[in-house]
Amino acid sequence: IIRKKTFAEVQTERLEQAERTILIKCPSKLNENKLLQYLSSHGNIQSHFLFENHGIHALIEFSEKNSIASLQDAIGIPSAVERHVVPFKSRLFTFMLKNPVSQAAEGTPVHLSPQSHIPVKDLIQKLCHADSISSQMYILLNEYQLTEENIRLRFLACSLVRDFARAYFPDSVVRPFGSSVNTFGKLGCDVDMFLDFHDTQKSATKMKKGPFEMEYQMKRLPSERLANQKILSVIGDCLDNFGPGCVSVQKILNARCPLVKFSHQPTGFQCDLSVSNSIAIKSSELLYIYGSLDSRVRALVFSVRCWARIHGLTNSAPGAWITNFSLTMMVMFFLQKRSPPIIPTLDQLKVLADDKDMHVIGGYDCSFVSDLSKIKPTENTETLDVLLGEFFEYFGNFDFRKNSINLRKGKEVNKPESSPLYIWNPFEQDLNISKNVNQPQLEKFVAMARETAWILQKEDKTQRMINKEPWGLAVLLIPFGKSNHSKMKNKVKGIGSETIRSLLESLKLNSASSLQKAVEK
Ligand code: GTP
Ligand code: MG
Repeated sequence: IIRKKTFAEVQTERLEQAERTILIKCPSKLNENKLLQYLSSHGNIQSHFLFENHGIHALIEFSEKNSIASLQDAIGIPSAVERHVVPFKSRLFTFMLKNPVSQAAEGTPVHLSPQSHIPVKDLIQKLCHADSISSQMYILLNEYQLTEENIRLRFLACSLVRDFARAYFPDSVVRPFGSSVNTFGKLGCDVDMFLDFHDTQKSATKMKKGPFEMEYQMKRLPSERLANQKILSVIGDCLDNFGPGCVSVQKILNARCPLVKFSHQPTGFQCDLSVSNSIAIKSSELLYIYGSLDSRVRALVFSVRCWARIHGLTNSAPGAWITNFSLTMMVMFFLQKRSPPIIPTLDQLKVLADDKDMHVIGGYDCSFVSDLSKIKPTENTETLDVLLGEFFEYFGNFDFRKNSINLRKGKEVNKPESSPLYIWNPFEQDLNISKNVNQPQLEKFVAMARETAWILQKEDKTQRMINKEPWGLAVLLIPFGKSNHSKMKNKVKGIGSETIRSLLESLKLNSASSLQKAVEK
């Protein structure tokens, strides 16, 4: 068996790969082989793929980093006829045909790797052809999860930002965190990245030998926050003024966690840049471990997130909504609570930690095992069909007034304060990651969970398949219309088959198209 790589190993490998990578905008009629041939005079090409993003782009990975220097040396700067250019030499290029008419004829059909997921209504169609809810959930996962190519593009975006940061801080690294790396990312989600100066501190002991010591003179500021704000402000300006394709740069320096938001046109990503946040990367690693332990984990999270988005429980705009991050933690907690548990508690992961896994960040113990093979596989064999229903049942009946969700212990704990929804930050233990959620939003979540659990229990799958109606997960991804809602209430009195028929009728496939727009970002 091949040992599964640790989170840190995957990150290091992908960042290094991104450093050997360039991105080229290409003409629409293209001969892929000729492009590769043209570039290969600068070195061996390890891999490449093409994708569409306002025109065709080619991502090219060289085997050696110095191939890029050789290429950059040979490449020209655009002539400043209409507009003037800022002569910053990046790894973004434009490939042109000298004789477009004759050369376009040599173009061959190219394979474009998709960078976005299929529309919800197409997904719903696909789900109807599956043979169980469990396979429906895996179909959703396959359609929505990040592809290998999309992950490479995300790391390239970070690496390109690093080129700017390096102009000031040669040792800095820009690392992705959040859903780009925690195995729960969906195609189209933002790229959360942070500037990391950590490596700078590692080699800081060399001059301490003997009776002497020496250190840098550095600018001193009253707080880390202020230092971060200043750094982000400068890098933000740099991206705004000199970054090819960096548009809508917004400095949000007064936020709890100061950040620079921008849209990176060449890769097509919305990016959030902040300064080194070791705890956030530990949260990403923890989720990476949970997501890698058992295939049911990611399948359940993707289905629950998709359900939440369609029913308006989550939203891409900030507000009192439950965030994807909180929702993912709720799924993890539910999986810890199964009997036998499907994933271990954080305390159990800490017991398995060895010396190199010990991390105390800002006074908080963030130690847990990094080697996946040390974690014993679960003995739980419940199907996803069962788990999906049980998830909604569990949170539909959870005593949110009294209890909080604690992943470290894997059990409900009395709420330490009165926030409607209290989910312990796994590392900063005095913080609630869902502090933003208000009572109405929580109530909406509970009501929706109950309704969903009820639908899953009552559903007659065979009958619906015969009637060619959406069934199982597909039903949950169609908004429960207002009219259905009032009919649902009849369940207390007991509903006749006529009511059920009309209820099912109103859930039919054609109503799926109306939500299409709401769900796509
Ligand atoms: P998407 O919705 O797919 O972007 O999920 P995400 O996990 O990337 O969430 P988001 O972009 O909002 O945040 C990025 C990362 O910041 C998360 O993965 C967490 O590690 C961290 N984060 C976000 N919100 C909170 C919070 O309220 N508390 C803490 N401690 N960390 C948070
Ligand atoms: Mg994110």
